[in-house]
Amino acid sequence: MQRVGFFVVSLALAACLAAASKAATTVPTDIQQPGTQPGEVAPLERPDQCDNCHADSNKGVELANEWRGSMMAHASRDPLFWATMAIAEQDFDGSGDLCLRCHTTAGWMDDRSTPTDGSALTSADADGVECHFCHAMTNPDGSEHAGVMNGDFVAHDGGSPAKGYLGSGMASLLASDDKAGPYAYPTDADPPHGAVGSSFHRSVDFCGSCHDVSNPAVGDLAHNGGALDGAPPVAQSGGLGGPVAGKAAFNNFPHSYGVVERTFSEYKSGALVETLVSEYATLPADLQAGAILEARNAALLAGQNGDYADGTPRYYSCQTCHMQPRVGKGAKQNGAPVRDDLPTHDMTGGSYWIPSAVTYLDSVGKLRLGGGMNATQLDTLAAGALRAEHQLDIAASLSIGKYPTTVVVTNLTGHKLISGYPEGRRMWLEVSWYDDQDTLLRVDGEYGPLVDGNDQPIEVIDPATSQPVQVHSILDLDAPNTKIYQAKPGMTQQWANQLIGLS
Ligand code: HEC
Ligand code: HEC
Ligand code: HEC
Ligand code: HEC
Ligand code: HEC
Repeated sequence: MQRVGFFVVSLALAACLAAASKAATTVPTDIQQPGTQPGEVAPLERPDQCDNCHADSNKGVELANEWRGSMMAHASRDPLFWATMAIAEQDFDGSGDLCLRCHTTAGWMDDRSTPTDGSALTSADADGVECHFCHAMTNPDGSEHAGVMNGDFVAHDGGSPAKGYLGSGMASLLASDDKAGPYAYPTDADPPHGAVGSSFHRSVDFCGSCHDVSNPAVGDLAHNGGALDGAPPVAQSGGLGGPVAGKAAFNNFPHSYGVVERTFSEYKSGALVETLVSEYATLPADLQAGAILEARNAALLAGQNGDYADGTPRYYSCQTCHMQPRVGKGAKQNGAPVRDDLPTHDMTGGSYWIPSAVTYLDSVGKLRLGGGMNATQLDTLAAGALRAEHQLDIAASLSIGKYPTTVVVTNLTGHKLISGYPEGRRMWLEVSWYDDQDTLLRVDGEYGPLVDGNDQPIEVIDPATSQPVQVHSILDLDAPNTKIYQAKPGMTQQWANQLIGLS
């Protein structure tokens, strides 16, 4: 079994030691973005208002509790988030508003993101990315349902057909309190609340709304708008302040400026985005494994060769891997149908240790928005951490050669491995060392010098120079010229099939 994991560096600590931020009370236009603005729709319903029908373990209805175990439900409990947000606020007064938009959706929509250090948020805002926010989202290109976008705050390019600005948390929310979701009504069982069928919810563009993060201030103020080399120029005002209409976030697609996180763009530039689950057999053999295989098996449950139960073609979308379909009921009502493509709401990624950090901080009363998490929250969070370990197990495969040789790491995710928050994450290969009797000397999960079973240093010779080298038993995949050294004669080196990520 392969395994990838993440550890933390001193980033959080550094941020905790930093001085308090200034906290703007008005969001600078350099940070504002189009889409539905705070206070423009009625306060969103909170997750516990969905529980009554969307969580009932006795009836096998797990949807709301699956969500509770996902990192998105803890995006505003995450201590790493608060630590880095404090730094962002120091770098640019008011930038916290950008962070809070995605990390506490209800707090932002209900206008509690100023002061921009989050000090007006309440303990109820700790639930991160909430149900109703996702289920009020419409395609910002306006092609399916009209969302609330007033004046200059239209999040598309104005073309015909319009192309939506997907990224940076720009969302266009329904004006009503209807819930937008994948199913059409009333042909299906009627929910006791307004519901509108939304193909956007099966689209990767939906997830792209938040999983490309761009920095609007860099986009508008940096000399090249923070575009990648060779990319077209960014339309920007080039000066602090001034009306939103001239700002980069109002005149460019988010993927084109101020690169921060690019999971969605990474995915869009790969081939999986165009691959139907039903075309699984056409994938290269080394990709028919791990996460790709697991998602396919889940999709087959609907009995449509990988497509949705209603026959809609299913691609290797974010949802296919991160909201794997299963058979079950989405709501506890007797009339609610058993669905063969019920989207699991666990949205598991690689975050396996932040859950323990959150649990610990809760136990000592140090969560930023207040603690007091209940048993269900703690249990679901612990279950989420276990799911993350499994997700890491299936994220890559290693083809193992004889030493000293190459190891091929095959990425079985839909995006880069590692994706997302890149500055804080690295990936490591873990090595097992054996002697010539095939006795395991040591499997290293820690970064440190190589020692034998008696904790004595092992001398390793670089075959190129015949000189002894200091070898750390974990190879840093990011390091230039990663070399695999031949160990002392008489010792063989084998690969433990293990990957370790480090962040
Ligand atoms: C009184 C019970 C009840 C409550 C409370 C409730 N729902 Fe529902 N909801 C249902 C039922 C029943 C369905 C139909 C399930 C199905 O068709 O699989 C449903 C369906 C949905 C759908 C699917 C819509 C579609 O078109 O695909 C979404 C999304 C949804 N609910 C979101 C929510 C959210 C978010 C909340 C909390 C803010 C909530 N619901 C509160 C009972 C409820
Ligand atoms: C990150 C965004 C996101 C969040 C948060 C989220 N959902 Fe969903 N939900 C989706 C998407 C996307 C789908 C459709 C996925 C698919 O069909 O592949 C969906 C589908 C559903 C459905 C349809 C299933 C059915 O049988 O009707 C219901 C109900 C639902 N969600 C309720 C909820 C509730 C309740 C919560 C909070 C406890 C919640 N969702 C949180 C994105 C979200
Ligand atoms: C409203 C913005 C928003 C939307 C929409 C959204 N996400 Fe997220 N997502 C977040 C934030 C914020 C985090 C970071 C949570 C954290 O680790 O603090 C996150 C984290 C994640 C993670 C990482 C969890 C981990 O273990 O590191 C996964 C996986 C994920 N989202 C999948 C999805 C998928 C799939 C969709 C579309 C169905 C989606 N997200 C839609 C905001 C969003
Ligand atoms: C083929 C399956 C697959 C597809 C498609 C896929 N992912 Fe992932 N994703 C994974 C696996 C496996 C992991 C765990 C490895 C990891 O954490 O890097 C992961 C990790 C993540 C993480 C955590 C970041 C990280 O590296 O820890 C986020 C966020 C995420 N995915 C979001 C998305 C979004 C958004 C999409 C669509 C644009 C998507 N994923 C498409 C399988 C997939
Ligand atoms: C467009 C939505 C969006 C905005 C705006 C945003 N984030 Fe995030 N953030 C995400 C998503 C999505 C992830 C998950 C990516 C992943 O897991 O790799 C994330 C992950 C993180 C993480 C990693 C959390 C962990 O536990 O690994 C940190 C730290 C973070 N964000 C800080 C910030 C700060 C600080 C800001 C403001 C400067 C900010 N974010 C603005 C969406 C956003």
